[in-house]
Amino acid sequence: MRTQVGIVGAGPAGLLLSHLLALRGIDSVVVEVRSRAYCEARQRAGVLEDGSVRLLREAGLAGRLDRQGLEHGGIYLQFAGERHHIDFRALTGGRTVTVFAQTEVVRDLIAQRLAAGGAVHFDASDTEVGHLTSDRPVLRFTDAAGARHEVACDAIAGCDGFHGICRPAIPADLLTVRQRGYPYAWLGILADVPPSTDELIYAHHRNGFALHSLRGPTISRLYLQVDPDEPIENWPDDRIWDELQCRFELPGSGWALKQGPVLDKGITPMRSFVSAPMRYGRLFLAGDAAHIVPPTGAKGLNLAMADVAVLAPALDALLRGDSRLADAYSATCLNRVWRSTHFSWWMTTMLHRTPGADDMAAELQLSQLRYVVSSRAAATSLAENYTGYPALPAGAGPAR
Ligand code: FAD
Ligand code: PHB
Repeated sequence: MRTQVGIVGAGPAGLLLSHLLALRGIDSVVVEVRSRAYCEARQRAGVLEDGSVRLLREAGLAGRLDRQGLEHGGIYLQFAGERHHIDFRALTGGRTVTVFAQTEVVRDLIAQRLAAGGAVHFDASDTEVGHLTSDRPVLRFTDAAGARHEVACDAIAGCDGFHGICRPAIPADLLTVRQRGYPYAWLGILADVPPSTDELIYAHHRNGFALHSLRGPTISRLYLQVDPDEPIENWPDDRIWDELQCRFELPGSGWALKQGPVLDKGITPMRSFVSAPMRYGRLFLAGDAAHIVPPTGAKGLNLAMADVAVLAPALDALLRGDSRLADAYSATCLNRVWRSTHFSWWMTTMLHRTPGADDMAAELQLSQLRYVVSSRAAATSLAENYTGYPALPAGAGPAR
């Protein structure tokens, strides 16, 4: 087999890259270890920055997003029995975010790639990459039927997430890794109940953090801070709802959290991780393969999309003999990655309860929260970071 760009991973990064390359007339082969059904059902992020929405729109992928996505002009911050609105529109000159699930983005991308005749090999195994410092790297995999393939490529994109094989294919002594673990995790549920809020509620409570998000007019998405090593069996549905009721309670307001059947639940560990550089020869890492943020800032999916928006024109130029954008790829992306990494860490540490933290730490957190909701400058900083960073670099759009 021969292709121009071999892509490992059919998550948002790999699929969107394949599409952006196709718009530039560049063919790719996507290799994915999981089944199509698994990729389409995996519950993950839900918030798209303005820039991500624009990118999907310019790439012709926003049909359902424009019909079903929910534009949000702010979030609520709740602590000490008070709920405060952070008004993104007023603070940032009209910027918003859009609530549209990653599952839906992935579903639309898969449908688009397959309808366009794109090569996406689900249920692949034993993926390998090689000859990465040559100009003819190879991608090897065994397809769902058991046949082994070797694909000669001009470049390879490692879009295979945190546990993939591409980052480990880079010699360890060439990588600088910065990381931080957090002493808590998120228990997330999808519930068959209309949301009890018009915009997301981020709640800081002495029992721990809670988040009320949504997936549409009849489906709610809720998260609870739990211990990182806690088995999910410790959390029967009744206990989850009791704890959510407790953390979101707003005495005297008349507000109530509506409950419904739990459709899905899972525990996600929290980590900040950045591996640099994001390129080794003709291998380019994108998305979670190179960096992970804790979900509190809603940045993971947006970063993955931003990476491939930079990578598509860089590969286009590289394949036509101009390596300048490819040479700048890692530094260009890491700039945004570090800003998001800082913001995600800041939101996370401001809103979660650190096990064993003393009263001093608790008061400092409350003071920070009070400052954010009472200072226009502090609220504007949150709003700017949450709604996203300046437009993706020129040329990042789909058209040549
Ligand atoms: P991924 O979505 O991880 O896609 C990588 C793909 O590569 C996967 O389909 C994987 O199966 C495939 N793959 C892996 N190894 C191989 C291999 N050897 N060969 C072939 N294919 C391979 N972000 C938020 O903003 N909010 C959230 O609530 C949130 N929740 C999350 C929950 C979980 C459990 C995880 C893991 C992440 C969550 N994130 C969240 C982060 C966000 O979903 C990711 O940042 C986003 O999915 C990154 O996209 P990606 O395409 O880079 O990686
Ligand atoms: C989600 O809807 O899944 C979601 C929203 C905001 C976050 C994280 C997750 O910060």
